[in-house]
Amino acid sequence: MMTLLHSILNSHYLFWVLLAVPSRGLVADIWWEDKYYAEIMYESGTWSVIFMVVALAITPLMKISKNWRPIFWLQKRRRAIGVASFGYAALHTYFYIRFVGTLELVVLEAFDIVFLLGWIAFIMLIILALTSNQTSVRKLGRTWKPLQRMAYAALAFSFLHWWWLDQFIPELVYWTAIIAALQVMRVTFSKLNLKRRRLTSSLPQ
Ligand code: HEM
Repeated sequence: MMTLLHSILNSHYLFWVLLAVPSRGLVADIWWEDKYYAEIMYESGTWSVIFMVVALAITPLMKISKNWRPIFWLQKRRRAIGVASFGYAALHTYFYIRFVGTLELVVLEAFDIVFLLGWIAFIMLIILALTSNQTSVRKLGRTWKPLQRMAYAALAFSFLHWWWLDQFIPELVYWTAIIAALQVMRVTFSKLNLKRRRLTSSLPQ
């Protein structure tokens, strides 16, 4: 019984299902079109941002918590969370294109700073999603890790896109504060660790 429960909890398929849960209404809207435009744009955009923030919080949390098991569990699913962020951004972009209606208008609007910021963030997420598989990790070698840091830029562009649309949004302040605090803690933690290691190695054996 325990082994069954354990394998269910550890199932990657179940995790994908969990990530897809918030998309139910959005996917249904592809056929039924019963939601307000502003509502589906808000929902899809916010879920994309939430998953981006979670994916970016995992690595610093791993360092700070010294591989605490629940964070380690999440770390194993980090790529899936990143791909989910891309999935929600793709739905968001789809609804936008459906609302605008013609390709000419989409291209014309892309010159407006609000939309340009959104497109830049989306293109970055496409690149990240395309290179998130094992083959890309092998092919890109040393460049894979620096490329993945593009996720920070994608988040920054998403935040700017959102800010340009709404000006003041409390969520933006909280999330920026959380990501910034985690980065500061990670750097401080690494420096302290380095100091401790140097100190131990300089002690007489
Ligand atoms: C990573 C990519 C993106 C993210 C994370 C994102 C995020 C968001 C968020 C959170 C909102 C909600 C703002 C609010 O109503 O309070 C929003 C709204 C919006 N986004 Fe995006 N966005 C992205 C890409 C795009 C792209 C590529 C376009 C199209 C060019 C776009 C067009 C819009 C529009 C038109 C709205 C406003 C809808 C309305 O309420 O009238 N977004 N976006």
